[in-house]
Amino acid sequence: MSNDSFEASKARSDQVRADIAENPGKYRMLTGDRPTGRLHLGHYFGSILNRVAMQNLGVDSLVLIADYQVITDRDTTEHIQDNVYNMVLDYVAAGIDPEKTTIFTHSAVPALNQLMLPFLSLVSEAELERNPTVKAEQEASGHELTGLLLTYPVHQACDILFCKSNIVPVGKDQLPHIEITRQIARRFNKRYGRVFREPVGVLSDAIEIPGLDGRKMSKSYGNSIMLGVTAEETAKRIKKSPTDSERRITFDKENRPGISALLTTAALCTGRTEVEIAEEIGEAGAGALKAYVTESVNTFLAPHRERRAQLAENMDYVREIIHEGNKRANEIANATLDEVREAMGMVY
Ligand code: TRP
Repeated sequence: MSNDSFEASKARSDQVRADIAENPGKYRMLTGDRPTGRLHLGHYFGSILNRVAMQNLGVDSLVLIADYQVITDRDTTEHIQDNVYNMVLDYVAAGIDPEKTTIFTHSAVPALNQLMLPFLSLVSEAELERNPTVKAEQEASGHELTGLLLTYPVHQACDILFCKSNIVPVGKDQLPHIEITRQIARRFNKRYGRVFREPVGVLSDAIEIPGLDGRKMSKSYGNSIMLGVTAEETAKRIKKSPTDSERRITFDKENRPGISALLTTAALCTGRTEVEIAEEIGEAGAGALKAYVTESVNTFLAPHRERRAQLAENMDYVREIIHEGNKRANEIANATLDEVREAMGMVY
């Protein structure tokens, strides 16, 4: 994405962020995750906390479990149901309230998916080919460029526009998708008459929590701490994380990615700063640091894990949350699709 358009996106994001607390009723938020595995601390600090905050401010909120996006760059839907239910467990344990926030899966909302047809007609092949996020994802996965991988940003536009959300909290990597969504909304309105509004991608200023090895936290790198695992598994994962041979603990992201990632993890979980923690551990070395990180993470996650375990005792309730969410999403999507048919003159 060009600098210019990044600056413009950032300015829109800042403007909305300044306004949300004053006028929460003006906004409908839609955001989502791919159910490819369990949610980890990166998701928690990077997005879930922010969703809970918006919901509690009174922003009308929808959270999408983007199950069709799973098959953009992989050839199986193995474990998908389990992943979806576990995602609901983590959402609700983290404070997403199904009474206030609609939690749904897009495969259960036919009218949402049907928007894909008119929307595909509004973008060119060249625009699809230029999307930097799609390219990066294709390279990272090593998967061939399927039709769905190439066009999923348009599908994501369906996710965002079906419910006429006007704010979409996202990381920077998702801005190209917001841009194409805005374009689709504009082009549709121009061609057929006004149906959609242009959503704003809202960037968070949360620090990105690195994986335990200092790279991006990702399930595929095995460097993440899942919210739902036990304290023992957490300890094991942290124990195995790479450090270096220098005894004294210092915060230096460039030269000591492993040590620094551990410090950031503890900092987020305790509300302290990395430098403060590094100075306190000092010459005690990586072993002492790891013990401190383990304790910080496990203490921080204990209430979440307890709520999660309680919820998991009643899986009927978890299924009910998805059913209710899907029902509401269908009502919204059907109403929007009716407007689209009307605008396009396809009413028979
Ligand atoms: N593409 C997003 C991700 O990989 C997930 C997602 C799907 C999404 N649909 C969305 C995010 C709509 C925001 C809005 O994280």
